[in-house]
Amino acid sequence: MILETERLILRPWREDDASELFELAKDDRVGPAAGWKPHKSVSESAEIIRTVLSEPITFAVCLKDTGKLAGSLGIMLGSDGNRRIGAEEAEIGYWIGVPYWGQGLIPEAVREAIRYAFTDLNFKTLRCGYFDGNEKSKRVQEKCGFKYDRTDRVFVSQIGEYRTEHMSKLTREEWQAMQSFVIRPERKEDEAEVENLVRESFWNVYRPGCSEHYVIHVLREDPAFVKELDFVMELGGRIIGQNMFMRTVIEGDDGRTVPVLTMGPICIANEYKRMGYGKKILDYSLEKAAAMGFGAVLFEGNIKFYGKSGFQYARNFGIRYHDLPEGEDDSFFLCRELKPGCLGGVTGVYQTPAGYYVDDKDVEAFDKNFPPKQKLKLPGQLFD
Ligand SMILES: CC(C)(COP(=O)(O)OP(=O)(O)OC[C@H]1O[C@@H](n2cnc3c(N)ncnc32)[C@H](O)[C@@H]1OP(=O)(O)O)[C@@H](O)C(=O)NCCC(=O)NCCS
Repeated sequence: MILETERLILRPWREDDASELFELAKDDRVGPAAGWKPHKSVSESAEIIRTVLSEPITFAVCLKDTGKLAGSLGIMLGSDGNRRIGAEEAEIGYWIGVPYWGQGLIPEAVREAIRYAFTDLNFKTLRCGYFDGNEKSKRVQEKCGFKYDRTDRVFVSQIGEYRTEHMSKLTREEWQAMQSFVIRPERKEDEAEVENLVRESFWNVYRPGCSEHYVIHVLREDPAFVKELDFVMELGGRIIGQNMFMRTVIEGDDGRTVPVLTMGPICIANEYKRMGYGKKILDYSLEKAAAMGFGAVLFEGNIKFYGKSGFQYARNFGIRYHDLPEGEDDSFFLCRELKPGCLGGVTGVYQTPAGYYVDDKDVEAFDKNFPPKQKLKLPGQLFD
């Protein structure tokens, strides 16, 4: 069986993988975290591949573009005696070599393995585990929708020690529910729910409390608001995300006024953050904006998130942020062309639509319509 994702091929192990495996598995940052000893020689790696070949579903995880080995993923019917797993339940185990850390490859592989295990192999429940302190592995499981339900003290035979293992679980029903999100236009009757969602999601993120729930309340009535691009994301009948756009302009240095879009607020419900939903609603709404003929989107955001959807620093396009003194950090100011090349030959100053500027007193008054919530000063906030 061969599985494929955007960047990976998951294929059966081959005996001639031994030297590539050794290069990755000799590193002592990999094995001990996963519960096995670093490999000492190519022949040990070859021996391990022979063992793995007799196991039903263990894949070599390889990069699609180069074919290079990056890691391993197994779907196991618990074999080490510590776990009591019934026939309807399997456990996913994985590791990835150090050169490939931090690129989101393992969540990509695990998501595909989950699909395969639930649809082709017909398992009803999947489990994963991580040893105490392995926060990276914990994040992989959370991102893929696993929920922690058990902590075990286990004897890890390969390294000969007891460890605390946190076990997480994902059922087929839960996974199916995660796949069945819908992105649709916001309706009048959604407005209060959406404002509450925005408030919950932004609360204490950029400042103590937040103003974004009031901002959207005001923007919907603004002439610059693009009604056709006001979207919500629904999962299991509940709204868990939203995004919206406004018309604005770049005042060109040559005297032209170039119409563009700006975006946001955009948010995802707290319990669904960092599971890929934000990127989904973002990419969907950008596609719709492009289909409507808009040329570019500019706004303030974090390149770590928006960069994955094709945004670049606006300075790369020769566009400046209004009222920002020269030499000030402008890395928050991002741009994406929806029509490639449409900003070619344009330099100038971007203007934030006036509707985004709200009075703190109005925010305070509006906030009284919602359940009380504590404002906290937290590290990382941008404003007081
Ligand atoms: C920002 C937000 C919309 C992102 O949605 P999300 O569903 O959490 O993000 P995704 O899971 O789709 O993220 C995709 C990738 O973007 C990057 N990313 C997302 N949020 C990030 C953050 N806060 N910091 C750094 N990188 C981030 C990550 O690389 C992430 O992949 P990873 O989790 O595998 O590392 C959401 O977190 C949110 O609602 N935050 C509060 C409100 C807000 O800040 N809105 C944006 C204002 S500009």
